Amino acid sequence: MIFDLDLDRVRNRPGIKWERHGDDVLCAWVADMDLEVPEFITNAVIERINSGGLGYGFYDEPIPVLEAFRDRMRNAFDWRVEVSEIIRVHDVIQGLELVLDTLVPPGAGVVVQTPVYPPFYSSIEGVGRRWVANPLIERETGWSLDFEHLESVASQQDVSALLLCHPHNPSGFVMDKTDLAQVIEIADRHDLLVISDEIHCDLVYAPNEHLPTASISELAAQRTVTLIAATKTFNMAGLRMAFVHTASEKYLPSLQQIRPRMIGGINGLGQVATVAGWEHGDAWLSELVAGLDRNRHLLGELLNDYLPAVHYRLPEATYLAWLDCRELGLGDDPAEIFLAQNKVALSSGPDFGIEGLGHVRLNFATSPEMLQMIVERMAQVS
Ligand SMILES: Cc1ncc(COP(=O)(O)O)c(C=O)c1O
Repeated sequence: MIFDLDLDRVRNRPGIKWERHGDDVLCAWVADMDLEVPEFITNAVIERINSGGLGYGFYDEPIPVLEAFRDRMRNAFDWRVEVSEIIRVHDVIQGLELVLDTLVPPGAGVVVQTPVYPPFYSSIEGVGRRWVANPLIERETGWSLDFEHLESVASQQDVSALLLCHPHNPSGFVMDKTDLAQVIEIADRHDLLVISDEIHCDLVYAPNEHLPTASISELAAQRTVTLIAATKTFNMAGLRMAFVHTASEKYLPSLQQIRPRMIGGINGLGQVATVAGWEHGDAWLSELVAGLDRNRHLLGELLNDYLPAVHYRLPEATYLAWLDCRELGLGDDPAEIFLAQNKVALSSGPDFGIEGLGHVRLNFATSPEMLQMIVERMAQVS
């Protein structure tokens, strides 16, 4: 039902996804879903607006959204956190920059598993740190981390942090407990901070499951700072609300020193929406993941029928498909060609790093009908 979309309404929706390109373009790029925002979110936002409660929010008093975070992590992932360990921020990438700025020495290296979400590069560079690539390995059986290479880059003297995208965007790779334990072991051996971006945590396909990095052991809890939000899950990225969490005795005191004014007062609408999502969103979320699961398979069938030269591996998580288009011979940036020739907007592979040459990222969080239209258009490329 929730994938049954009014496509005219979708295509006229305000926001960057559908407004950036012309009316004749089908958009499958930025990570917003075409689905309607669930009613329990819109009701909570409207109720807040109608209540007139748009004044200053709380800075220092107990805040329901922190308790909602604590309860959600326990119920969804069996992860025990304390309210005192959570810092509210506006968005995950702001959280990332604050953490880098506070805990990583200027000029130091931060390891990223490439190809990866482009703002990881720009944020690390933007705060005057240096990213160090640890390319993912793609085998017949799936993606994996290159632990040998990780060990060698982790041992470089100026490398002081490891940034995980967990689940991983754009590959859809989900690390299991063994992977995470190995990451933590390496981080501990080289005294690295682990920053774990878990914004896609709810969008994982069985039998894979999301394990918060910090939850796997006391050692992991002491090494890890987690970045998380409900915005991706409930399709409300524009409401700007996210969290930084750590239980680490080493890192938490410094993060708590960040001046609240440097973060800014947090959007009240984002907070009520987050609480509503976590309190009332379970049934909707199950329907969402089931529909995305069907779409990831449907995309495989469509590509098989229309564009068999494109290499596609079923993502284990996220609604993002990482498509290797090199056999199509469209050059380094096929997204440019699909946009100009076929009027389909995809994310450019090279933005995700050197491994992204000849690739595109396709967002399949849409109706099956739209997905079919997108692939049919792409198939006309020449
Ligand atoms: C891995 C990852 N982190 C962060 C973000 C952005 O989060 P925010 O809008 O809260 O900064 C995205 C959005 O697609 C993402 O995929």
